Amino acid sequence: MKLLLLYFPILVFSDYADEVKQNIDHNVDPCDNFYRHACPLGGPEYPTEAIIGKQLKEIMEKYSPEVYPEFSDIQNDLKNNSAVKDFSKVVVSVYKSLCESKQNVSDYLTGIEEMLFNGAECKSQYCLIHLGQDPNCDRVAGHIQNAMKEFAVLGATLENILFVIENIEIRNSVWGDDSLSRTSEFNQYFLQMKNVAAELIMATPWARNQNVSEMILSVLEKLYVENAVETSKHDLINVLKNVNSVYTKCRKRYENVADPLVVQFCMIYAFHVTESGPKLQEMLNQFDFDKELITAGTIYPRIIVGYEWYHMFIYTDNRAARLGSPGFTIAHELSHALIKGTDGDILSYFSNEARKCIQDQYKSTCKEFDEGGCRITEKRFEENGADVFGFEIVWSMFEEQFLKRQKRSANIEASEDLKQFFYSAASNLCTGTKLVEDSRDTHSPSNVRINALVNHPAFQVAFQCPDDSRMMKSKTKQCSVYGENAPPNRRHFIPSH
Ligand SMILES: *[C@@H]1O[C@H](CO)[C@@H](O)[C@H](O)[C@H]1NC(C)=O
Ligand SMILES: *[C@@H]1O[C@H](CO)[C@@H](O)[C@H](O)[C@H]1NC(C)=O
Ligand SMILES: *[C@@H]1O[C@H](CO)[C@@H](O)[C@H](O)[C@H]1NC(C)=O
Ligand SMILES: [Zn+2]
Repeated sequence: MKLLLLYFPILVFSDYADEVKQNIDHNVDPCDNFYRHACPLGGPEYPTEAIIGKQLKEIMEKYSPEVYPEFSDIQNDLKNNSAVKDFSKVVVSVYKSLCESKQNVSDYLTGIEEMLFNGAECKSQYCLIHLGQDPNCDRVAGHIQNAMKEFAVLGATLENILFVIENIEIRNSVWGDDSLSRTSEFNQYFLQMKNVAAELIMATPWARNQNVSEMILSVLEKLYVENAVETSKHDLINVLKNVNSVYTKCRKRYENVADPLVVQFCMIYAFHVTESGPKLQEMLNQFDFDKELITAGTIYPRIIVGYEWYHMFIYTDNRAARLGSPGFTIAHELSHALIKGTDGDILSYFSNEARKCIQDQYKSTCKEFDEGGCRITEKRFEENGADVFGFEIVWSMFEEQFLKRQKRSANIEASEDLKQFFYSAASNLCTGTKLVEDSRDTHSPSNVRINALVNHPAFQVAFQCPDDSRMMKSKTKQCSVYGENAPPNRRHFIPSH
């Protein structure tokens, strides 16, 4: 088993559906408190992250560094030159090599001066170009050494290049060569999801009555998914690609310099000339590998998806688990564009009836399952709405995959597939500790988010809950945000701004 684990991690990942079910507490009736049945108190925190974390470690340990065509010159030359020298020594040493071999030092001195002053006018003893006229190599070398003292900070750039490469490698280890096919499969799934959402929108009475179906569809149309790790890897590679192109020219220009330190000189020169320092700083403020692993967020029209969800998607063979876990997460993100929570949202209209219906359900669930403070404020509507419509979307996909094609709707009651669908949705939000209100969080508490899924008729079909069970009693009127059952609101719309 250990060997298989190392060489065929896929075999292990496909057990995700089973791992989720291993958490179940059979002493808690799903009809009494579904969330605590699926996510017991004292059980694991965010099992999806734990599973990924475990696999990730193995993936990263197996990884061997690559040569990137975008910056292969830098990479190759660094191999022989990775011991970082004091930058002033590098500059002086290369100067002496040029001067002593009677080469023209004028371009070199110009380059140094530009670097020190970022192209602005040079000042006092730091002006260097005129030194090209002094034939005494040692005298000029001493002068340059003094001038460079003030600019020690430039020397840090070689470490920066090494740091960027290291960060690219970390990302490449989880999202490398084989990621292209994975991306296209994921994108395909997302397209299916968009088509399902489009059908629901087209069938929505309130959207038709207000003549906004087309507008909402065109909002949906532009949405796309992007892998967070891939994006930052790409941006980091681009930094070094620019540096590499200047570096290669610099090496060519000084190819007659015997001093091997010319490699470090050209790298640092290229890094500065391309203004990569500030670019890198800006990126470091945004990038965070750990976040790139687990994030899921929407900045319309882009849905940024962490590695975790791709991983779950690719390595989960069980279709119901795929829909319930990564599917529901992505559908939730997609739904954010189609729920009008604040005036600032992209939609100009939203159904007040749908809004009220959703909030009523969450208030009811909150009241019944409060574990440590629970309030359903207006601020939480957008997230609640994204859950309700997101679930609507994945449910339509479930119907498509399990009911329509197989014409087996009779067999779906209490079926393992349907239960797996709900268990996997719960696994996204499992915590083993009591959910205490965090008023800064725009999401409702996780147990409320999951138990509110009772609003969808599929829940009762899955767990065959009696009408007088706690779960069923907490169910309010069925809410459909979009779809043919969505409330036909004729009057109450949020005015457009
Ligand atoms: C670096 O070292 C390798 C082998 O050790 C050699 O083939 C290559 O030419 C060297 N590169 C430079 C720039 O010295
Ligand atoms: C050195 O190069 C500069 C610029 O390329 C040129 O203007 C200058 O005439 C050259 N000096 C000699 C001595 O060739
Ligand atoms: C929608 O369009 C129809 C037909 O053009 C029109 O009669 C109706 O007033 C419109 N509704 C709204 C809310 O603009
Ligand atoms: Zn959200």
